[in-house]
Amino acid sequence: MQMRHKLAALVEESDARFRVDRAVYFDPEVFEAEVAAFFEGGWVYLCHESQLRSPGDYFSTQMGRQPVFVTRRKDGSLGAYINACAHRGATLVPLQSGHVSAFTCRFHGWVFGLDGRCIKIKNQDTGGYLDADCRAQFSLTPVARLESYRGFVFGSLRADVPSLTGYLAGTKPWIDLMVDQSLQGLEVLPGSSTYVIQGNWKMQAENGVDGYHVSTVHRVFANTMANREAKLGLTGMQRTESGRLTGNVASAGYDFGNGHMAIWAQHTEPSRRPIYEQKERLERDLTPDQVDWILNRGRNLYLFPNVLLMDNPSTQIRTIQPISPDRAEVTVRCVAPIGESQAARSARLRKFEDFYLTTGMATSDDLAALEATHLGGYGRAARWNDLARGGAGFLRGAENKDAARIGCVPQTSSENWDHEAIYRGFYRNWKQRLLDADVTT
Ligand code: FES
Ligand SMILES: [Fe+2]
Repeated sequence: MQMRHKLAALVEESDARFRVDRAVYFDPEVFEAEVAAFFEGGWVYLCHESQLRSPGDYFSTQMGRQPVFVTRRKDGSLGAYINACAHRGATLVPLQSGHVSAFTCRFHGWVFGLDGRCIKIKNQDTGGYLDADCRAQFSLTPVARLESYRGFVFGSLRADVPSLTGYLAGTKPWIDLMVDQSLQGLEVLPGSSTYVIQGNWKMQAENGVDGYHVSTVHRVFANTMANREAKLGLTGMQRTESGRLTGNVASAGYDFGNGHMAIWAQHTEPSRRPIYEQKERLERDLTPDQVDWILNRGRNLYLFPNVLLMDNPSTQIRTIQPISPDRAEVTVRCVAPIGESQAARSARLRKFEDFYLTTGMATSDDLAALEATHLGGYGRAARWNDLARGGAGFLRGAENKDAARIGCVPQTSSENWDHEAIYRGFYRNWKQRLLDADVTT
């Protein structure tokens, strides 16, 4: 079937209804189109600049199925290249991260500089190369576009994409709320956790900004934390901020366009958050509205297609790598304001372990729910995922005065994170991008 006809049948919307055929999580043709259009055809989050502090530091990852690495060059700028030797294609960077003075291929020993240029061909003089300057022909292939926004590094394998700031659009004030927590910016902390989910990559994208599940899935976490805190006599930042997990607090969901989505919920006891010790500094340097948003609201931001930035009692960067229609690899890293106190850093890491690690007590519950939706999706006779909640009565753009306090203009928003209106924006973008990329339509 032509993709245009397939997509028309997969997303059904009217004023009262918005539903998505569960085939979007299973169809191999859709998956291939997604990888080509989004992960290998548009902006993809790669890494954070703090992971590449010195010339020669590198970080390897994938864009869709293509292995790439980012490195800090001698002049301090960043470069990104396809992770394949220019000779016969061996991956050049074998580890996820490290430090080198030059990239030496393990196969035949060719050497490449930090700027991607070939600087040595083993036994070049006996190779019979006709061109004495043959090394110039063997530079690494650069990633077509590489740009950063306030330390977050993105790449695109296609050159004909808009600027990164144009792509991020209305999400920038949300990113700023994380970065402005320290005058020195953010740093990704050592260590990460990677796991494979039995489900489609979009399930992780949806789950990361799904406020509706919190009071069911994470009630157990909140109760467990409360019991632990009482038993151990924990105080201050050692305690968990869990009011948003169980109570009726102010909240909202935003559709930023381009597939980007976000939710926030009010904290009932913000002083338990590690950032709270910075209150006076923040009040000196930022507007009262920015400080309010930073200290008093837990925020989850999803940047299409592959990264979630979460700023709750702990803080994380969560990346999503599609493997197949029914598998995705997820990696979580703790990110923190540079220069926070030892007590705050320690509290942030303990809260990260409690909630965000798969060995913790909340993400494991998320995964059980996510994988249940995957299993249920095999019931093809029951075809639709309903996403109609909050579809009526959402706010358009500048109608959201609360968001405007931080210079943020979402395309649409709901004044309740229980609503699912944000997914309308996600799936409209998803469908349009697939249509735009499809040569068969
Ligand atoms: S494949 Fe790298 S030197 Fe031959
Ligand atoms: Fe969750």
